[in-house]
Amino acid sequence: MRKGMFALAAAGMLAAGSVAACGGGDSNTGSGSTGGASASGKVGVILPDTASSQRWSTADNKFLKAAFDAAGVQADIQNAQGDKSQFQTIADGMISGGVKVLMIVNLDSGTGKAVLDKAKAAGIATIDYDRLTLNGGANYYVSFDNVKVGELQGQGLVDCLTEMKASKPVVAELNGSPTDNNATLFKQGYDSVLKPKYDDGTYAKGPDQSVPDWDNAQAGTIFEQMLTQNKNIKGVLAANDGLGNAVISVLKKNKLNGQVPVTGQDATVQGLQNILAGDQCMTVYKAIKQEADAAAALAISLAKGEQPSTATGSIKDPESGKDVPSVLLTPKTITKANVKDVIADGFVTKEEVCTGSFAALCTKNGIS
Ligand code: BGC
Repeated sequence: MRKGMFALAAAGMLAAGSVAACGGGDSNTGSGSTGGASASGKVGVILPDTASSQRWSTADNKFLKAAFDAAGVQADIQNAQGDKSQFQTIADGMISGGVKVLMIVNLDSGTGKAVLDKAKAAGIATIDYDRLTLNGGANYYVSFDNVKVGELQGQGLVDCLTEMKASKPVVAELNGSPTDNNATLFKQGYDSVLKPKYDDGTYAKGPDQSVPDWDNAQAGTIFEQMLTQNKNIKGVLAANDGLGNAVISVLKKNKLNGQVPVTGQDATVQGLQNILAGDQCMTVYKAIKQEADAAAALAISLAKGEQPSTATGSIKDPESGKDVPSVLLTPKTITKANVKDVIADGFVTKEEVCTGSFAALCTKNGIS
């Protein structure tokens, strides 16, 4: 931590007042804290929204709560519903309510940093959950290898196009929110797979656009325009299942679903059903239970005034240049052949996925 603090100060990225605040946060997270080993402070968690991905309402909340409950640590988990001022209001309430640890999934780096700065000034330890807050200076970061997520998406699309024997397909890219650092990393990953194909003429590069705030409805509008302008789109790199579903809805209207492979991410019930139906090529399963458990373990140590030992990796904040101690987990590709693995892992249930017309598809694909 101390090394990070000096790096940050040396980089001169923060106003003088914030550097002083950083010192306050540092003493709280270090061994300087005098709280008894078993006495634990409260943890505050702010999730981003419930619309950009099903995960925030169905998975993260549930797994984080279970981890804190199991440890007997009090946690206040709230969701900002995509509203940046609501995000700040929740944070202010948690800070004045005396949380010892604040964990956030930012809605953008600017507002995320404002909250982290306030927390640090109040001597509260901070964790970036899933999304790195650029120049935010959180004490810890827990996420997946997000460049790897993108590589799996790129490779998944290549595999589907190869299987369909597509010849010089036009590939459209529908990226995540331009204000989400993860979206940048996902794109870095899938472009590392797709760009060589564009360059050597195997694929033709089609439209390439970001979706503000990962807004699924806007994704539909954007893709509709893409398809109107380029009827020849033969593959779509969609950055998550929500964007993928928006694309699939437009393809359905044009009777093109199933003929144009579409990628996704998050292994949501909707994404898995789209895969079983043959409308979605793949998704990326990120074991959110592992992510929630890892973040909760850090938060619990910090809430008890202990120095965590589990953040063995680190990631460089590209804006501040500072290394943030991190836990980075491994994502996994899901296609029709292994939808059953996501169910076996307990992430979604068979009952959720295999409803109505999906029952027969589940049986056909070995989901029993
Ligand atoms: C998360 C994805 C999610 C997306 C939209 C990203 O930061 O890593 O899992 O689909 O945000 O909420």
